Amino acid sequence: MAADRVLYNLNEVFCPNDLGRPLRGSEMNEAKILKNAYIAIKDGKILKVGEGEVPEDLIDDSTEMVNLEGKIATPGLIDCHTHLVYGGSREHEFSKKLNGMSYLDILAEGGGILSTQKATREASFEELYDKTEKLANHMMYHGVTTIEAKSGYGLYWDTEKRQMEVVKKLDKNLPVDFVSTFMAAHAIPEECKENPDEFIEQVIEMLPKVKEENLAEFVDIFCEKGVFNAAQSKKLLLAAKEQGFKTRIHADEIESIGGSSVAADIPTVSAEHLMMITDEDIKKLAEANVIGNLLPATTFSLIEDTYAPAKKMLDAGMAITLTTDSNPGSCPTANLQFAMQLGCLYMRLTPVEVFNAVTINAAYSVARGDSIGSFDEGKKADITVFDAKNLDYTMYFFATNLVSQVYKNGELVVKDRQLVK
Ligand code: NIG
Ligand code: FE
Repeated sequence: MAADRVLYNLNEVFCPNDLGRPLRGSEMNEAKILKNAYIAIKDGKILKVGEGEVPEDLIDDSTEMVNLEGKIATPGLIDCHTHLVYGGSREHEFSKKLNGMSYLDILAEGGGILSTQKATREASFEELYDKTEKLANHMMYHGVTTIEAKSGYGLYWDTEKRQMEVVKKLDKNLPVDFVSTFMAAHAIPEECKENPDEFIEQVIEMLPKVKEENLAEFVDIFCEKGVFNAAQSKKLLLAAKEQGFKTRIHADEIESIGGSSVAADIPTVSAEHLMMITDEDIKKLAEANVIGNLLPATTFSLIEDTYAPAKKMLDAGMAITLTTDSNPGSCPTANLQFAMQLGCLYMRLTPVEVFNAVTINAAYSVARGDSIGSFDEGKKADITVFDAKNLDYTMYFFATNLVSQVYKNGELVVKDRQLVK
């Protein structure tokens, strides 16, 4: 069968193995790396990938041939943990951070997430839409074709709903795909400070509305000292699961208070952050097949030196992903490549482990393993092209956008680091 478009002359094509589940432990260091390779696309889907000359049966008069000499291609990158929709920004807290004030202390004095809650409440739908569109575009320039986006700066229903509606509309209008997560349990609102249990009840009452209006697929909660405890987290996530939501949990980010055990008990699809996870909890997550979504750019931006123990997780047979955590407080960036490079430099992951983390494993982490994350025939032709001669170069040459082209569903959406209009 002839292809609509063939990308050829590629120095390397990174092909993750899709085993029908996330890659675990040593499997993460395996992949096929095709040399002098091509990718054939038909009807927005992968038709074939291979090495050497493009077979004649893939080409007819209408096939567009794209010469990508000197470049490499990987499946479109997936950013599987972001807090993308918010009002305002938090540079007014930047000097506090530089002067050593901790993230949780800033939150405790009504700043942090609560200051973004206020700005988000005051922002109109259009303002939130425009702002998030810009961020999503930045992510696309950096090679991302699917974004998970959480609510959680409304805390109360009206604004939570507005955030999720922004995600829904962006998903419809932009080439990038969104996966929506409901995270009203992101902070305890000032009015409920003395009674977080009561607020958890309110969040549970919101769940049927989220379902009814089809606003989110996942439910998440911030299980952290001074925010929600393990029992409250378990209560919300069990209720969410009962109502047919997939679940995840922010666990062991700053202090270890039992979030990972909750993740293993439910079990959630993923557990996020895990900077302070114990060895025992690593074992539990591995046994329960919970994916560890790791966010090294957050450790970096919080000026901490405790990166999540990624290698220990792999030794224990866990599946991991890497993701930005893009948000206005703990990690104001839209550059997934930088998070990946930190994964190499500070978690000592190999480039192959890193690319498996942001492609096939991230696909399973957003429940899209059947349609994205690898170059298996029939998957969406989501392709990221790097101006680099091999995979190692993309991790070695850091903090510079090396993505030159992005294809979404087989169509060129980013060229020369610009959106194609
Ligand atoms: O993943 N930890 C909770 N949520 C975000 C930070 C959100 C914010 O500070 O606005 C995180 O780090
Ligand atoms: Fe987060």
